[in-house]
Amino acid sequence: MSEKLEWGKLATFVPNKRLPVYNWFYYKEGFARELVFRVAETFSLGEGSVVLDPFCGAGTTPLACREMGMNCFAFDVHPVSVFVSSVKTRDYDTGILRESAREILETRFRRISLPKDRLIRRTFKKETLEDIILFREEIAGIEDEKVREFLLLGLMNAAMKASYVFKDGAVLRFRKRHVPPLRQMFRRQVHRMIRDLEGFKTRECETRVGFGDARSLPLPDCSVDAVITSPPYLNKIEYTRVYEIEQRLFLGFMKGIPPVRSYIGSLDRKGTGRKEIEDALGRDADSLPEGAVPYFADMKRAIEEMHRVCRSGGRVALVVGNGCFPDRVVESDILLSRIAENAGFTVKNIIVLNKRWCTRHRVEKVGIARESLLLWKKEE
Ligand SMILES: C[S@@+](CC[C@H](N)C(=O)[O-])C[C@H]1O[C@@H](n2cnc3c(N)ncnc32)[C@H](O)[C@@H]1O
Repeated sequence: MSEKLEWGKLATFVPNKRLPVYNWFYYKEGFARELVFRVAETFSLGEGSVVLDPFCGAGTTPLACREMGMNCFAFDVHPVSVFVSSVKTRDYDTGILRESAREILETRFRRISLPKDRLIRRTFKKETLEDIILFREEIAGIEDEKVREFLLLGLMNAAMKASYVFKDGAVLRFRKRHVPPLRQMFRRQVHRMIRDLEGFKTRECETRVGFGDARSLPLPDCSVDAVITSPPYLNKIEYTRVYEIEQRLFLGFMKGIPPVRSYIGSLDRKGTGRKEIEDALGRDADSLPEGAVPYFADMKRAIEEMHRVCRSGGRVALVVGNGCFPDRVVESDILLSRIAENAGFTVKNIIVLNKRWCTRHRVEKVGIARESLLLWKKEE
């Protein structure tokens, strides 16, 4: 185990907030473009390499791969992630986008019946919601899927900026405030996105983004050179709640897949998987809180899948944080690395990027939780 706290920011989305295309959707759980570049260098990847991200979130890995000319398969179970990652990683004709945006923005206001959904009603001022629904319906009529989804992402972004909601960690908070007209926000957003595309350089490569479960990937054995990813952290965020508004209002047509059971409040599905975890962790499994077992059982399957699809000599870079519990810190970085060894990887390094106090009732210190970059290799 080594420490590189100066890389700490790279485990966060913060550096992406100023980067064109990367910042088309604010995704707090994401990591930085620069992390993918540094890992690619460490693994000596280059044009033509094949990379996998089985937990792609907002698409940082496939987008960085496009900049470097590397082929990438990226999967996620959440509709918002699949949608955002797909829109960010396509080739567009900006002339066609400009023309379609102009037509949509010329839509005249007409009275619209509003959704009954209480969460949605609470999120927007009435006039804003009317405009959102109006544009959403116009966009739905566009035949070209790429243009339609590009404009829908622009609208989704503009809508959230013109909403009363803000995301406070895993919680949605509501605050009534003055909001600018939606039409103006939407115009600005779409034009900014088109300008981004005009200055964004990608190289020839293949990118495939889609729905997929990291525990059983639709890929053949030995088909990738490297995995660059970050799974859900134990007991950290309930993704479904944080992006519920975007999903309900804009992506009702997409259906998700049950996620890794990382969140303690949502663990009561299926068997817990204690037997599988005992096989991989031996005595260490005894000290795991009961609520953490399904997470490690799911992650064991995901790690075995990474091993199956990596070619021999293939490498894995995985960013993960330890789990905070009221009475202890669960060392996910070490436990996942043990599971990886059990699956046939060699653990090359555990690089600690961040250290934070875990607290009980927000004040009592329980212990230090690390956020680490795990580097593994499938031996030749
Ligand atoms: C920490 S985020 C990944 C962030 C990403 N590295 C980025 O920069 O945007 C973890 C992602 O894993 C996804 N996920 C959870 N369970 C999954 C599963 N079984 N298969 C695939 N993805 C899953 C979540 O929906 C979430 O988008």
